[in-house]
Amino acid sequence: MTKPELSRAYDSLSDDTATAWRRLPAAQQPDWPDPAALHRVTEELRELPPLVFPEESDRLRVRLAAVARGEAILLQGGDCAETFDGTSEEQVRNKYAALGQMAASLADAASAPVVTVGRIAGQYSKPRSRPLEVRDGVPLPVYRGDAVNGTAFTAQARTPDPQRLKRAYHASAVTLNLLRGYTAYGACGTERCDDEFFTSHEALILDYESALTRTDPESGGMYGSSGHMLWIGERTRQPGGAHIEFASRIRNPIGVKLGPEATADDALDLIDRLDPDRKPGRLTFISRMGAGAVREVLPDLVEKITASGAQVVWVCDPMHGNTFSAPSGHKTRRFADILDETTGFFEVHRDLGTHPGGIHLEFTGEPVTECVGGTDGVTLDELCHRYDSACDPRLNRRQALELAAIVADHYR
Ligand code: PEP
Ligand code: CO
Repeated sequence: MTKPELSRAYDSLSDDTATAWRRLPAAQQPDWPDPAALHRVTEELRELPPLVFPEESDRLRVRLAAVARGEAILLQGGDCAETFDGTSEEQVRNKYAALGQMAASLADAASAPVVTVGRIAGQYSKPRSRPLEVRDGVPLPVYRGDAVNGTAFTAQARTPDPQRLKRAYHASAVTLNLLRGYTAYGACGTERCDDEFFTSHEALILDYESALTRTDPESGGMYGSSGHMLWIGERTRQPGGAHIEFASRIRNPIGVKLGPEATADDALDLIDRLDPDRKPGRLTFISRMGAGAVREVLPDLVEKITASGAQVVWVCDPMHGNTFSAPSGHKTRRFADILDETTGFFEVHRDLGTHPGGIHLEFTGEPVTECVGGTDGVTLDELCHRYDSACDPRLNRRQALELAAIVADHYR
């Protein structure tokens, strides 16, 4: 692999480039009660070893370039929100094994390589639609992920605690250790143990992410070392905002969520900011339009971006545009809607002659009852049986495998 060239932006490393985002508005950041305590924690994080290495992130970019060219498929998935007590060997193994099974069915059907990227080993913070949650007239800060606060509805648990950022780092390290063991030594009990596996999470808490940037001594380039691929969510992708600025400074593969309000101009602007060199594999657009909107909104985006000459990866997240509240109050999603959006995504790409790059799912290896439908037929009444998610409803293992088999048929 040729070494990346030094670009001007990286001449004066690295504090300025790592922290330029501070001059811009940053959406969805916790209200840390003690900024000095936060500062002490980020200083400690800066001294800790990287979790992933630049070579690995570069390799993922090369793999994603093949997806952008239409020669491979991206499978990205895992929890909506990982939790600190979800790092048991069994739980990590189950997620890894389920991803492996999904990847195998996609690879068989498509006769193409599958690039497997977990929402794992770092997915500990969440953007929320409201800053407060009110129960029985009592308002408390909303749960923002284990990296920030706790789920219990008490003032103590909900107060953002920067020590949790260190716990997120260590929980990521523990999880990564297992994943590295499974891929290196085949200790996973699945057929695809020896394959590459990459990690990803939403780059939400910028104090955490920038404390974990590291300069690659080979190239002088800056990388996020908290995970291989980092994505920017639908609520934080403002073009002049801190998250896009931060992402523009690191060399990892970057994902950006695009919801039903996204326009082709928004997407072209994101390409200019995040992928000025038009490097295939650098940028992945994660389309999350909703089953009702995908066929209307997505074609214009794909068409104009393709016409611009940019080579991005298109991946379908059929989860986040299809959430609703069940009568019981549980947040849920219908398997049929998830399937409908996925099918719409494939139709759009088929009509335009572009490559449907893959799928981005929220799922778990456990037999939870969080999404309704599927052959198993979880019903609305059954949601209470095993609803474990700390945030959004996930497909259980059987639902995820069923969806993957249908997606595989689209590639056949
Ligand atoms: C998520 O991926 O969990 C998420 C919050 O997605 P989005 O930014 O698309 O709403
Ligand atoms: Co989610």
